[in-house]
Amino acid sequence: MDPIWRIPILLFIFGSFNACTEPMNDQHAASSHYREPHRPQFHFSPKEKWMNDPNGMVYYEGEYHLFYQYYPDSTVWGPMHWGHAISRDLVHWEHLPIALYPDSLGYIFSGSAVVDWNNTSGLGINGQPPLVAIFTYHDPDGEKAKRSDYQCQGIANSNDKGRTWTKYDGNPVLPNRGPVADFRDPKVIWDEGSGQWIMALAVYDHVEFWGSKDLKSWAHLSDFGKEWGMHTGVWECPDLFPMAVEGSDVQKWVLLLSINPGGPNGGSATQYFVGHFDGKTFTLDESFANEVKDERAIWLDAGRDNYAGVTWSDIPGEDGRRLFLGWMSNWEYAQVVPTGAWRSAMTIPRVLNLKKTEAGYRLFAQPVEELKALRQAPIEITGTGIKTSISPQTELVLDFEISDSGDANFGVELSNGKGERYRFGYDQAANLFYSDRTQSGDFSFSEKFAGKPVTAQRLSKERILRLHLFIDAASAEIFADDGADVLTELFFPSEDFNQVKIYVEKGTVELKNGTGYPLAGIWP
Ligand code: FRU
Repeated sequence: MDPIWRIPILLFIFGSFNACTEPMNDQHAASSHYREPHRPQFHFSPKEKWMNDPNGMVYYEGEYHLFYQYYPDSTVWGPMHWGHAISRDLVHWEHLPIALYPDSLGYIFSGSAVVDWNNTSGLGINGQPPLVAIFTYHDPDGEKAKRSDYQCQGIANSNDKGRTWTKYDGNPVLPNRGPVADFRDPKVIWDEGSGQWIMALAVYDHVEFWGSKDLKSWAHLSDFGKEWGMHTGVWECPDLFPMAVEGSDVQKWVLLLSINPGGPNGGSATQYFVGHFDGKTFTLDESFANEVKDERAIWLDAGRDNYAGVTWSDIPGEDGRRLFLGWMSNWEYAQVVPTGAWRSAMTIPRVLNLKKTEAGYRLFAQPVEELKALRQAPIEITGTGIKTSISPQTELVLDFEISDSGDANFGVELSNGKGERYRFGYDQAANLFYSDRTQSGDFSFSEKFAGKPVTAQRLSKERILRLHLFIDAASAEIFADDGADVLTELFFPSEDFNQVKIYVEKGTVELKNGTGYPLAGIWP
């Protein structure tokens, strides 16, 4: 399988050409940015140019850091930098200067960051713990020369709350041990149990675990995954973390793993595994193993547009949440979506919880509470079949009671004056949620975009169905049944959707509660 960046090379050449004709704007310059068509108003997006994966998510001294794969010279993928933003509330973001630039060892691919509380790396000064970023170096010359050892891991440290970064002069700290072309996306955690740093690394078709006492020298611990989950694409962006099973003292370990291509709806998607990690080896929970053998997977998000997501490091114990954020796009069309000055946004931050359900262990995802701060005066959505005007930035909380007929088919329709629409619904007979963007606007930019509606089996068996939606100009994030099923989907209507209607195609359904909250924007 070709790594995904072989394809973008041509686009990159085109992108560079663009960069020569268009002078680059300062990331901080005040302008009409954030008012353009399709621009999300409460999601993080770069002021301009290309963004993909979230990187280096770490919390330190009241600030949530968000680094991201960034190419400052074009709106398509190219030589990767780490862009940087911070937030104090997970809602409002402040852009900071680029944190990491490519150097003689290569582009700066995805990775993570930690607070080195005990200064194990010796990179701290004045008794302050350093922030340490662990990332992949991707050497484009090595790739062009058709070598297969062109990815390795490096580190950098910051002693000023992430404002400036110094690359370690002993880089790479983990040379390619292959040679294996795909050797990347280190996610590092401190493992209390084994008293060492653990790195989860994506290596083509499996995850390798590496251990270190000082973040500088790494020893191979074990491999996981060749025989589990999906392998129709390259494995990327792992994340490993412990998690209590909700309502019990049982602790499990969760491994997130992104794959491209090979997602259930085409292109990129994120699968996960539930098991046990003993400081060396990750072993699947027995019941979970049955669900992910023979090229089957359990997906984190049933939609098409949530990729490469990982969780924040160093969230204080008194908070205790496992906070997640993903790249809200899909490699199938990310580089050609019809946005102007910028390309891509992140999902809203979400809280992950692990629950034991009848189907087995499942991750539930919920929007972070902090987003409630954006709510404006609520509007009531009364009954079915009635169109209500909404803002293109709206949160909807809809509680349905489904009748016994067993064949109900209903949902939420967003529309505009151009006759374009997006539908999210539930087909009770098939027990499927569906997300239908086949009539949601212009798809001329990619044959892969409109596709057919995507579906997801409903996990909950309750008669009451809650749909919680976040709509932001070009995206819908749907949290069904308190996050048991989640779908993230993009659309590009030629005019913003400004109407909502509850439709019932079949059966009887009562809308018990329908509340819409216009959401304030986060950009000045
Ligand atoms: C995932 C990914 C990573 C890689 C980065 C390059 O989207 O392909 O595996 O580090 O993007 O930008």
